[in-house]
Amino acid sequence: MTTPRPETLAKLTPVLTKRWLSPDAWRIGTYEKLDGYAALRKALKAHPDDLIQLVKDSGLRGRGGAGFPTGLKWGFIPQGDGKPHYLVVNADEGEPGTCKDLPLMTHDPHSLVEGVIIASYAIRANRAYIYIRGEAVHAARRLRNAVNEAYAKGYLGRNILGSGFDLELVVHSGAGAYICGEETALLDSLEGFRGQPRLRPPFPATHGLYASPTVVNNVGTIASVPYIVLGGAAWWKSMGTEKSSGPMIYSLSGRIANPGQYECSLGVTLRELLELAGGMQPGHNLKFWTPGGSSTPLLTAEHLDVPMDFEGVAGAGSILGTTATQIFSDQDCPVYATYRWLEFYHHESCGKCTPCREGNYWMVRVYRRILSGQGTHDDLDTLLDTCDNILGRSFCGLGDGATSSVTSSLKYFKQDYLDYIEGRTAPKLSDKQLVGAH
Ligand SMILES: Cc1cc2nc3c(=O)[nH]c(=O)nc-3n(C[C@H](O)[C@H](O)[C@H](O)COP(=O)(O)O)c2cc1C
Ligand code: SF4
Repeated sequence: MTTPRPETLAKLTPVLTKRWLSPDAWRIGTYEKLDGYAALRKALKAHPDDLIQLVKDSGLRGRGGAGFPTGLKWGFIPQGDGKPHYLVVNADEGEPGTCKDLPLMTHDPHSLVEGVIIASYAIRANRAYIYIRGEAVHAARRLRNAVNEAYAKGYLGRNILGSGFDLELVVHSGAGAYICGEETALLDSLEGFRGQPRLRPPFPATHGLYASPTVVNNVGTIASVPYIVLGGAAWWKSMGTEKSSGPMIYSLSGRIANPGQYECSLGVTLRELLELAGGMQPGHNLKFWTPGGSSTPLLTAEHLDVPMDFEGVAGAGSILGTTATQIFSDQDCPVYATYRWLEFYHHESCGKCTPCREGNYWMVRVYRRILSGQGTHDDLDTLLDTCDNILGRSFCGLGDGATSSVTSSLKYFKQDYLDYIEGRTAPKLSDKQLVGAH
């Protein structure tokens, strides 16, 4: 294990994670002692439009994967339309490898609750929902407890802190489907329907929950808001890069000495993150990695110095996504890893559109053939052709994301595929697993 140098340790910028190690950090008493709800008091004295402008000025971009500017999204909510407005927090966190929202809600749930109240006030919503994935029982318990504590202290409910602003906040547990992280499928699920994406336009900003104006934001996005209110836009922009401002929680997993969450300014490199995480495990050399979960194209050891912000990662041919940085070594097989991800996408495909439903079904079968030593050279063309028919032709981002590791692993690691096809690598799957396809 390597020890990070002081200049690399200085890359850590704990903002959203700063309370995580405090004893009982999830309790309202601890939160209040550590500046908690001070931003809310300040925000309630401001005009809602000024808060939207502040978030615009900060350059905050969504932490759910796409990096959409948050203030702009809030500004799309029509005002004075006589309709109820809703804030919906996307706490589904289903992207493989991603582990930033659940620890945040477990360790510091009040930062999310405070962010919800400020954001709701800004967009003039009197009802907000946090949609949390069903399996996250512990985080949901902590969150519900935090919501109850906030009600008891007058931070939620009627006439919050005497401001005249009312807000009801509901924590809703989903049933555990990756597609319910897609914002329109989430809204359908919240309304009690089967979670499947909706056709856009119309967008949630005008026709969201119950066909009313709705903002859907990620946990990390909303939890950033109290810090921006207290610290100001200039302070927030002092971290990160010109177009990707602020700190970001990078969740590191895989063949590294110390997996976990590392909060750094956007633009940190994998080389620096690896040093912070104690380096690779002994005997392992970096072979490939995902910058933002399994829906983002793989990068390799050539990309150690790519700035991990929205533009930097895009420039290297991938996507920053959820900053779920999964590290694989020369002892891991990119063909097998891609197959396992495809099994996931095939299983999680909601079935609404043909390219994703059928394409993933067939690609899984081609991978099984290759990995059981029965693949052919034509299979590689079939995979690329299938990806061509999924990418950009699917109804939602799940289909597009499924193709990322296929095309990128073929781009960088074609030899690993050929080694199975030409018999140099021993089959990883048995004939039984090949036939046992469902
Ligand atoms: C298949 C799929 C799954 C998604 N899962 C999540 C998720 O778990 N959490 C999340 O915040 N966004 C997820 N998203 C992105 C959301 O649709 C949406 O862009 C995001 O919640 C917007 O919040 P933000 O602007 O704060 O990033 C997913 C998108 C797709 C296509
Ligand atoms: S891309 Fe996949 S998950 Fe998305 S609508 Fe089509 S079938 Fe459903």
